[in-house]
Amino acid sequence: MSRKIQSVKGMNDLLPIEQKDFKLTASFWQAFEEVVARWTLRYGYQQIRTPIVEQTGLFVRSIGEETDVVGKEMYTFSDSNDTLSLSLRPEGTASCLRAVVEHNLTYAAPQKLWYMGPMFRRERPQKGRYRQFHQVGIEALGFPDPDIDAEIIAMCADLWRELGIADYLTLEINCLGNREERAAHRTALVEYLLQYETQLDDDSRRRLHTNPLRVLDTKNPDLQEIANRAPRLIDFLGEASRQHHDAFKALLDGLGIVYVENPRLVRGLDYYNQTVFEWTTDKLGAQATVCGGGRYDGLMEELGGQPTPSIGFAMGIERLLLLVHEFGCLKADNSPDVYVMQQGEGSTLIAMRYAAQLRAAGWNVLQHSGSQKLKNQFKRADQSKARFALIVAESEAASGSVTLKDLQGMHGQTTVPAEQMINQLKEWKA
Ligand code: HAM
Repeated sequence: MSRKIQSVKGMNDLLPIEQKDFKLTASFWQAFEEVVARWTLRYGYQQIRTPIVEQTGLFVRSIGEETDVVGKEMYTFSDSNDTLSLSLRPEGTASCLRAVVEHNLTYAAPQKLWYMGPMFRRERPQKGRYRQFHQVGIEALGFPDPDIDAEIIAMCADLWRELGIADYLTLEINCLGNREERAAHRTALVEYLLQYETQLDDDSRRRLHTNPLRVLDTKNPDLQEIANRAPRLIDFLGEASRQHHDAFKALLDGLGIVYVENPRLVRGLDYYNQTVFEWTTDKLGAQATVCGGGRYDGLMEELGGQPTPSIGFAMGIERLLLLVHEFGCLKADNSPDVYVMQQGEGSTLIAMRYAAQLRAAGWNVLQHSGSQKLKNQFKRADQSKARFALIVAESEAASGSVTLKDLQGMHGQTTVPAEQMINQLKEWKA
């Protein structure tokens, strides 16, 4: 026998059944996708689908060269002519904006877009952290005012309620100000951190010179005290940023949305300004952030478009669904309504015709394939979790009738003329 080939580390299969170390099934996932399609429509968002592969330069320019995502985690390779560097997308915002600029989508009006699909980051895999993971994201492009900041938060809260996980998520918010405010804060921060340079770990010492804001994000317990006492960005905000932030918070208060202000929340991607936020949970171990986002008012221009103040977020589908699976409510039932069985001369074709009639009337039908004994066919029907069985054996085939059986036992078994099978099933189902 040949050696089996395994899937790539950190990249999951979605199966019809639960796996020991990965509980999400394809039908659970599909049920979530249906919820997402209705949810985005409720808020007036249009879907966008972009390629999984983009020019590496897109991510370098938007996410930032010094970020972990671009610096360490991207799957990058040369195209065959060796001159063009390509990467698997590590997130969706950059691709979405690239497409909007390329097709001039915001020319006449602001845009509200959503997307869903696989993203790739070469991180160390663990529960809730994968190398191929999936995001649902939205981007609201061309909206400068804080009302949209509050609306997209309310949109998240709406989804958490629908999925039954609102009680397990905490909203953290912060304001990163504008470029000048961040620069003034950065100078003060570097000055402060330099006093402690010898006490910093390697990561923080490197970030001190490349991305000092991220030092505040350190998970190292020994550095918490230093990070806690560091100059706070919020104290460097000017009037306009402060007003934006206050108006945003007033709307959240008015909508009854509870939040925690976290002055150290900085996010791992460079394009943010003003509002940033994360929804976190204490139920998934280290991988606490289920959804994150914020404003990126300068990014469209950075990518060659017109100045377009914008905001968005993305949620990790695996993390979200692990939470929903354990604590929430999402019904995923892909079992057939009717299992059709046949036995004896001429019954296969007749049964196929009945199955077609049932399907045309909107029933989900699994027809038995092959010529096993009825006993074995019943076993398969039970395995399929179908609600009803329809049997065409020789006597039914000869008399133009069908035998129906309620596999959940409520209605027993009956034989009716074939013309009555749909009415009979409807009556039983009601
Ligand atoms: P992000 O925080 O990098 O933001 O990712 C968003 C979410 O994707 C995270 O909160 C997490 O749930 C999930 N995620 C990230 N990495 C992994 C991983 N390795 N395994 C499993 N889940 C993961 C962004 O990507 C921004 N584009 C969000 C955004 C949209 N900002 C504005 N618009």
